[in-house]
Amino acid sequence: MSNVRHRIQPRASRPRGSVANCQVEVLSMSDVVSPEKIAAALAEHWSPRVVAELDDSYVKVAKVQGSLTWHSHDDEDELFYILKGSLTIEMEDRTVVLREGEAFVVPKGVRHNPIAEHECHIMLIERKTTLHTGGEVTDKTRSLAEQLVPYEAPSRKPDA
Ligand code: NI
Repeated sequence: MSNVRHRIQPRASRPRGSVANCQVEVLSMSDVVSPEKIAAALAEHWSPRVVAELDDSYVKVAKVQGSLTWHSHDDEDELFYILKGSLTIEMEDRTVVLREGEAFVVPKGVRHNPIAEHECHIMLIERKTTLHTGGEVTDKTRSLAEQLVPYEAPSRKPDA
């Protein structure tokens, strides 16, 4: 069974067209994706990968363990959805513990630090402008280009 490479390419490599003075991206056809399988196959902790895009947002998955770093996103909300395991999100005024199947939105401007005591698989939905660790840069920080690196997705039988 052959692997299917996902089709999202870095923005710069996409063909572009122009409609009425607006730059529009020519997007590839949408693929069926399995966020949990993609997350499970990732080798590195805290290294999100883009698995889908919709309008001005990306859907990303990551495999995480330990703590990321305190940071905030001044202009973007960030949705965390737990695919497997449990994730604690520390914020300055409270801490939430998310279990498998649960979701939480960290509002824009709220400082937060995600922590996973044990390995956890997460899905994120956030605007394309969202920086991995906000204005902080650590050795865990991943650029958008790194998050757009193709992954090997598990193959799936086409629908009959
Ligand atoms: Ni964040």
